Amino acid sequence: MQNILNTIKNNALREIENIKSGDEYIKLEKKYLGRNGEFTKAIKDIKSLAEKERPIVGKIANEIRIDLENGFNKIKEAVLETAGDIKGSVFSFDPTLQSKKQEIGHLHPTTLIQNELMDIFASMGFMILEGPELESDYYNFESLNVPKTHPARDMQDTYYIKPDKKLCSSQIVLRTQTSNMQVRTMHEYGAPLRAIFPGKCFRNEATDVCHDNSFHQLEGMIIDKNISVANLIAVMEEFLSKVFKRELKTKLRPAYFPFVEPGFEVDMNCIICDGAGCPSCKNSGWLEMIGCGLMHPNVLKAGGIDSEEYGGFAFGLGTTRMIMMLHEIADIRLMQSGDIRFTKQF
Ligand code: DAH
Repeated sequence: MQNILNTIKNNALREIENIKSGDEYIKLEKKYLGRNGEFTKAIKDIKSLAEKERPIVGKIANEIRIDLENGFNKIKEAVLETAGDIKGSVFSFDPTLQSKKQEIGHLHPTTLIQNELMDIFASMGFMILEGPELESDYYNFESLNVPKTHPARDMQDTYYIKPDKKLCSSQIVLRTQTSNMQVRTMHEYGAPLRAIFPGKCFRNEATDVCHDNSFHQLEGMIIDKNISVANLIAVMEEFLSKVFKRELKTKLRPAYFPFVEPGFEVDMNCIICDGAGCPSCKNSGWLEMIGCGLMHPNVLKAGGIDSEEYGGFAFGLGTTRMIMMLHEIADIRLMQSGDIRFTKQF
């Protein structure tokens, strides 16, 4: 058996060396390695060998197969290099045939808006930081003036992760807001500071046209001396006018967020229905764009900053919602649907 295989190998290698065209190559490959090729047929007999011999001959057969394949590959390359006069079908190449079109993808609208916002805020001197999506209950809630029993937790129900008690003593959650970066950043950089935190957030939501269980936000904050609501309004107006590149109706109204005092909401007129009322704006004609306010002294304290000396403001906006406004998208669920007919439009 071994002799048979070796003879096949020697004959094949000798013949391979003399290949001069693609046609010859195909014929020879079929002769030895094809379904009824000499080598293919010969190795079928291995299974009838004695049990002891089978692995030995099997191994040799494998080595021979590799030698043959290498022989064919080598000659293929050599012949291809001087391919000009060879007409065999494996080597034929027609330069006039139209090539397959490669479609070029592009960034998702969420990434595009995030990049644009980062540019705007960077030009105003803000650092850009990313935070963890798996967050401790402390940074996501407690440090932001939202203790365990606080009613504000109802609005931000999330997914709770069973912590590995050996690694972590705190409850871990999928963060509900990019505000989780407020106290983290104070701990890291101290005062004064100016930073934005774009990223993904999660909530345990019953989904509908304006709610999804994961979405993107951008949080920002300034901590410095003598910060007032006037500074806050100036920054909000500056960046909204840059993003929407048009005249917008906005209004600032008081709102409650546990980590700011006083707190506000910046609303803008719904550009899907032009203020007439539609499902996207819950028929109010207005869209809540930005939550904001002056930093609560308890939060500054949690961040190790003296609230007598420093103040600041924070703001948070849904970038997902912002894209919906910019492109007049009526259903938030399209954003992460993965439907290429949707994403292709941006
Ligand atoms: N984190 C809030 C939310 O997800 C948004 C927010 C409101 C952020 C007010 C702020 C703020 O920084 O001051 O609903």
